[in-house]
Amino acid sequence: MLHPVILSGGSGSRLWPLSRQNQPKQFLALVGDHSLFQETVQRASRLDGVQPPVTVCSEDHRFMVGEQLQEIGVANGGILLEPVARNTAPAIALAALHVLASDADGLLLVMPADHLIEDEAAFRNAVTAARALAEGDWLVTFGIHPEYPETGYGYIRRGDALNGAGYRVQSFVEKPDQPTAERYLAEGTYSWNSGMFLFAARRYMEELERHAPQIAAAARQAYATAQRDLDFTRVDKDAFAASPSDSIDYAVMEKTDHAAVVPVSCGWSDIGSWSSLWSVAERDEDGNRYDGDVISIDTKGSLVRASERRMIATIGVEDLVIIDTPDATLVARKDRVQDVKAIVDQLKAAG
Ligand code: GDD
Ligand code: MG
Repeated sequence: MLHPVILSGGSGSRLWPLSRQNQPKQFLALVGDHSLFQETVQRASRLDGVQPPVTVCSEDHRFMVGEQLQEIGVANGGILLEPVARNTAPAIALAALHVLASDADGLLLVMPADHLIEDEAAFRNAVTAARALAEGDWLVTFGIHPEYPETGYGYIRRGDALNGAGYRVQSFVEKPDQPTAERYLAEGTYSWNSGMFLFAARRYMEELERHAPQIAAAARQAYATAQRDLDFTRVDKDAFAASPSDSIDYAVMEKTDHAAVVPVSCGWSDIGSWSSLWSVAERDEDGNRYDGDVISIDTKGSLVRASERRMIATIGVEDLVIIDTPDATLVARKDRVQDVKAIVDQLKAAG
């Protein structure tokens, strides 16, 4: 059976000041009426023959997750609460153990809570292809056709064809530098790693035990001693904190010799920064996206988001991001929005 696993533990710091520690971006309605998390859960629930999704998130967000799930009224496969963040490899291990407890042959479809997919039919076809490979013991990653030399993504070089839709992974490179990314783009055999995966829960645990035994052991211990309360499974803090912090990409996908890639063009985007939100949003003929009460004269290529408190007016500006909230306003050049994280780091350091 196929079990979607919604990874919802990120902090979304590059979408400050809207995204905050107590309400990170995946829980905000950034595009459309539902939050990115709700959209992801709904997308998962619409797949054929799928089990209710399992959510893995921070303990701090349990009420928000519970409420947002209730609001969309989909069946719930369980909410696994992390007392501390240890990145995706341990988070997925908890989900694998949770699924294995009731389904020894269970397949996991790992879906980050902060992605958009425009072409759901294409995504569904890719899931079907990946499922066939996962049943043959492959750990499948969904590869996206790269459009520009992004350095914030992992890159996958495809090797031999495995079936009509998938390939053996020849190499996996997490977040290359700019010249390397440019070379990959020119070579044409690389995809972006979407951060979505499909594999048997049992195979994931086997590979984790081989390549990152401390993570596997800590996750097992934390899950075995977890407290259960209705839909929530709260893992033991000390046991989970003992896990090294590492991503699935570094801990497993780069190391396993059983990695496969299913390339897919499904209008995928990772809403990681204000510029990526601008690029997927509907814009006027001058390339502007306005939300809330905004008036502008001679403004181009900008993303302007007013809060309920006041209007924003712009004159003669280009390629800006202006985000207002009740207690903080961001004004940035659109090509500098990656540095928003540095502001958040400064705020954290200042306490
Ligand atoms: N539950 C849980 N716990 N979820 C987590 C944790 C954690 O400790 N850490 C991260 N996540 C979630 C995030 O919320 C996000 O949805 C997803 O896992 C991926 O984490 P990111 O922190 O956003 O990873 P990344 O953007 O640096 O890189 C990954 O995604 C790229 C595509 O968006 C990698 O897989 C790259 O290779 C990939 O290209
Ligand atoms: Mg990301």
